[in-house]
Amino acid sequence: MIRSKLPDVGTTIFTVMSRLAADYKAVNLGQGFPDFDPDPVLMDLVTQAMKAGHNQYPYMPGAAPLRQAIADKVQAVYGHAYDPETEITVTSGATQALMATVLAAVNAGDEVIVIEPCFDSYLPAIRLAGGTAVPVPMRPPTATDPYYRIDWQRVRDAITPKTRLLMLNFPHNPTGAVLGEDDLDALESIVRDTGVLLVSDEVYEHIVFDGRPHNSLSRRPLLAEHAFVISSFGKTYHATGWKVGYCCAPRQLSLELRKVHQFMVFTVTSPMQFALAEYMRNPQPYLELPAFYQAKRDRLMDGLRTTRFKPLPSPGTFFMLADYSAISDKPEADFARWLTEVHGVAVIPLSAFYQRPDAPDSDHGLVRFCFAKRDETLDLALEKLGSI
Ligand SMILES: Cc1ncc(COP(=O)(O)O)c(C=O)c1O
Repeated sequence: MIRSKLPDVGTTIFTVMSRLAADYKAVNLGQGFPDFDPDPVLMDLVTQAMKAGHNQYPYMPGAAPLRQAIADKVQAVYGHAYDPETEITVTSGATQALMATVLAAVNAGDEVIVIEPCFDSYLPAIRLAGGTAVPVPMRPPTATDPYYRIDWQRVRDAITPKTRLLMLNFPHNPTGAVLGEDDLDALESIVRDTGVLLVSDEVYEHIVFDGRPHNSLSRRPLLAEHAFVISSFGKTYHATGWKVGYCCAPRQLSLELRKVHQFMVFTVTSPMQFALAEYMRNPQPYLELPAFYQAKRDRLMDGLRTTRFKPLPSPGTFFMLADYSAISDKPEADFARWLTEVHGVAVIPLSAFYQRPDAPDSDHGLVRFCFAKRDETLDLALEKLGSI
């Protein structure tokens, strides 16, 4: 027998709900992946890269043309110049960037602040590094303010001499919350006072709606100096199964990240990297992404408003929370299961994004819908939900 390093971790709720969706032939609005393919142009570029001989180990931190393309994009969109040679690392999706970052930065006994609800890979990464997660809850919507927000005073209060990292994720999965200029101001003031290091998971950087800009931490020099900024091509180019992402961080931070990265995966699948580098020459696909997903958000939002669900606003990501209190008083996980088995629509309980999913204060009567789906899929789900 081995002594488990992650004794509380079972199969993730995303896998459980996807399996349940398959068993019950339910429409899967649970796990966050598109049910459509990437641009055929991008897929053809992968074939071309293979035929051009890009089939052996690429350079450890990532193929040079891709790191250059990432540097050019970040410079063009957020105005920060990362050196592709020393400050940009291509990773096996954002998940591996997150794990490598936490393993590189966190030592036994360190504290890591996470904002709850939070993406499910953060807590196990902190645990594997020997650190302790310190959850800071987001401020939920109120009658006068419909958005989830960070309570910066609570973040500030949570910082101790043991704090090694503050992990942020905006646009935020699962609430859809985005950062405003005032959030960057508040964060800047915390960083100035405490010097805390930041991990900024920005995988939904190109999915921000209603004409808002994405406030990447790399927009502010002081924040960029203290941050590992992580993104994923899976979300931007509808290719979650390719598992290609990246991390931008100042030289010293990238140096430590790469030490871990090279022994986790050494490097990332070669033809995808060369294809993505070529595809990124054209900014149009990511510039058009907000409008593409905003139409789907509005389709789901308008549809849910005709049902007994009460959708919450979604300013970013491809997720939307909805209140089901008019339908049931079941706990979230039971409700999600019931919805899949009885009504044929799979969703994710919000409680899954809390450190203690079974605790009563992790249950808010909310479930998460993913709208990265074909319009037919969304319409079929809405038809089923409308019958409840
Ligand atoms: C907030 C967040 N971070 C990271 C990831 C993982 O990204 P990747 O598939 O590139 O590993 C996801 C995927 O759902 C996510 O929602």
